[in-house]
Formats: sequence, structure tokens, C-alpha cells
Amino acid sequence: MPYLQPERPEKVSAPSLRASKKRGERLVCLTAYDYPTARLVDEAGIDIVLVGDSLGNVVLGYGNTVPVTLDEIMIHLKAVRRAVQRALLVADMPYGSFHTGADDAVRNALRLVKEGGAEAVKLEGGRKRLPLIKRLVDEEIAVMGHIGLTPQSINKLGAYRVQGKTAAAARELLDDALALEEAGAFAIVLEVVPREIAKLITESVSIPTIGIGAGVHCDIQVLVLHDMLGLSFGKLARFVRPYANLNQTITDAVSRYADDVRNGSYPSAAESYALPAEAAEELNLPTPVKDSNIKQS
Ligand code: KIV
Repeated sequence: MPYLQPERPEKVSAPSLRASKKRGERLVCLTAYDYPTARLVDEAGIDIVLVGDSLGNVVLGYGNTVPVTLDEIMIHLKAVRRAVQRALLVADMPYGSFHTGADDAVRNALRLVKEGGAEAVKLEGGRKRLPLIKRLVDEEIAVMGHIGLTPQSINKLGAYRVQGKTAAAARELLDDALALEEAGAFAIVLEVVPREIAKLITESVSIPTIGIGAGVHCDIQVLVLHDMLGLSFGKLARFVRPYANLNQTITDAVSRYADDVRNGSYPSAAESYALPAEAAEELNLPTPVKDSNIKQS
């Protein structure tokens, strides 16, 4: 594995995350949905790669995560699997893939693991998912929980809002987190909850918390890659720090290419191939300038 970071050489696993939390390490998680970005993310030393259902928003052009199917996750998961070597690879269970009974959920999770190469699955929901999570863990599947803002509940919630803002709602979140730990989840995503509640939960469980819009006290941070790279559309949530503006970079590159084609400067001779002299002679064409005599730009 030539591109592993020397200071973080070991393969990350679900159990190794708990040890990292004990040692007080801050780990990093990002989403990835195709081979090139997954490879770059893994080579950069990111600890967890998530094939999340935000796939629907940032890659497939859906308005939310609800329409995403297991087959769609599978296609992207397989591409990402081919790229990721060191990071722990987690796949989201999309809406509808774990709601029709435990047997269906196990079958779908097994597909993600066996066919897709996921090392763990993530599913949204707190205490109501306990029997299901226990069952999945019994079937040797590593499960990541996800509470707070659960985007698959958008039709019930009506809007994406900060969760756990009242004392009662915060207590519910804490109870959900404790129950997920007890059920055997190896980590818990906390999405868009007040940082004080994220801190309380992080200090109350021995498994790592993975925050998105949940403040600095979570053990691990996650962002959607397309959002932090500026490769998505619409207003960014306040917790997304834009580390690049790839929309602009791509627009500039595509516009320059179009200009070059339209003004005849692309392709140059160096960007094309000469006919061999003998063939030119046979065809009564002028002697071509040899490729080796053309200055490469
Ligand atoms: O699908 C996703 O990107 C996620 C993260 C926001 C945790 O679930």
C-alpha cells in the first residue's frame, strides 16, 4: 500500500475506533461516491469513508435522501471499495431498506457487506431501532447509529432544523445514544445538534461520536465531500467550511476549453498525430511535419 501516511499506517476498523477514542485521538470522516474521489480521500489519510445517502443530494440530483435506493448505494459503494485501502468503509442503509422488517434489513445489510465490500453499515434512528441493531450485530454486521437530524425523516420533520434544543429533546437524544451503545453500535453520528448536547453525549458513551453540525467536542468530524469542496449547489449549512470552490474551478476549465475549440487553438499539432511520410507520399499529400519536430507545449 504505497500511499499510506507513515504516521497513520494501520487499517482502520470498527473496533479500532473505540481505542482511538480512549486515546483521545481526533479522527476524520468524509463521504465519497466514486473511485477518484475515494482514492484521493483515502490517500489523504481520512480515517472513515462513508458512502452516505447524501449521494441523492450531491450526485444524483434528488431534492433529498428519500428516493435513494439500495441499488444506487451499491453501484457507488463498489466503485469506492475499489479505491479505499486504509479507511474504514461504511455504507448507508437508504430509506426503505430497513423499514420492512428485520429479515429484509439483514438481507440488505448483508448485500452491502458481501457484494459491496462495506465494513459497516449506518442507519438512522434512535431507540426504536434497538431490536434491529441488536439483530444486525448478532449477524456479525458492524453498525453505526445516526441520531439528531435524520434526513430520511424529512417528510415527517417538514424542514431540516437543529434537533435537541429543549431539555426534554436533549434528554431523548442522550437516551437514544445510550441505547444505541447498549445495542452494540460501534459509533454514533450526531447531526445538527447543539454543541453542549453533543459534548454531553460524547462524554456519556464509550463509543465514538461523529459530529456533523454538532460542534468540536465530538470524537470524529464528518462532512459531505461535495459540500466542503464547493462542488454542490444551493446554500451551504453554517457548519460546512468551504475548503475549495470546485464549481468555479470546473466552470473556468470548461469555459477555457470551449473558447480554445471555438477559436481554433485546440487541438494544436502537438496534441494530434502526424501521418507517416510514406503514407503522405502515396496519397500525394504534402510531407507532414514529423511529431518529433513539433514543440510540445
Ligand atoms: O449521507 C450522509 O452524507 C450522511 C452524513 C451526513 C453523516 O449520513
